Amino acid sequence: MTNDELIDIEIKLLMEGVYQVYGYDFRDYAEASLRRRLTQWLTGSRFQTFSLAQSLILRDRAFFDTLLRGITVNVSEMFRDPPFFKAIREQVIPYLKTYPFVKIWHAGCATGEEVYSMAILLMEEGFKGRFRIYATDINEEVIRKAQEGIYPLQEMQRFTRNYQFSGGKGSFSDYYTAKYDHAILTPSLRDNIVFAAHNLAADADFGEMNMILCRNVMIYFKQALKDRVLGLFDNSLVPGGFLCLGTKETLERRQIFSHYEELKPRIQIYRKHYEKK
Ligand SMILES: C[S@@+](CC[C@H](N)C(=O)[O-])C[C@H]1O[C@@H](n2cnc3c(N)ncnc32)[C@H](O)[C@@H]1O
Repeated sequence: MTNDELIDIEIKLLMEGVYQVYGYDFRDYAEASLRRRLTQWLTGSRFQTFSLAQSLILRDRAFFDTLLRGITVNVSEMFRDPPFFKAIREQVIPYLKTYPFVKIWHAGCATGEEVYSMAILLMEEGFKGRFRIYATDINEEVIRKAQEGIYPLQEMQRFTRNYQFSGGKGSFSDYYTAKYDHAILTPSLRDNIVFAAHNLAADADFGEMNMILCRNVMIYFKQALKDRVLGLFDNSLVPGGFLCLGTKETLERRQIFSHYEELKPRIQIYRKHYEKK
């Protein structure tokens, strides 16, 4: 047996153990990227092999949390992919304006940049007091960071550019206060956001959403897990609701594809049909 094959077995055993002990299910994550991140984590640990680290991982929650941080990729940015946010403004908002109240689920929201972007966009489009955003992630530590809404000041230049390219209607600097090397987002942006831990691989759906954003999350999942998660979204969305994926993700060839129409080619926004076809 080669060393590589042995590592694959160790990872499988470890992921089974993690699932049994902590309930986090990484068994259906795409192998290559999971292995890459786990190997990176192992290099930074004091253990030579996954087998040697396993005992501590399964017995010590704090040590497991370091592994969890290593497994989940939490990078995000405000108004990430400006053409996407522009399309939301131009093509989705007119539909949402016809509802008295709008419910949005951001699944896999990481440190919250995307969530605050949507809150800003909705405020600018006149939804004040007429929306609620449920922002969830598997990683409780990033949820805590998302709740704080504090980002490195050096990021603001890039975020401002994204905001402008996405059709922002005001001045981005109105949405934060600079303090030392941090930017603190205006606290009222949080008024309509509920942050919570939620595991797409294990937990149930949320009902009656008008829009679901799950961007750059499913790229890490195997096909079966993608279908599970898309099933959750399909159950959660009202007819006529919008499902938004990342630029490298698509509904094509997925089980629920026939329930949706693509809003605009290459911008992964899909609208659920009123009747199942
Ligand atoms: C690359 S970030 C995407 C952040 C944001 N959606 C964006 O596009 O900028 C991926 C996020 O998915 C989360 N994630 C991974 N597996 C998950 C799961 N099973 N359930 C919920 N969130 C998960 C990770 O913790 C991470 O914060």
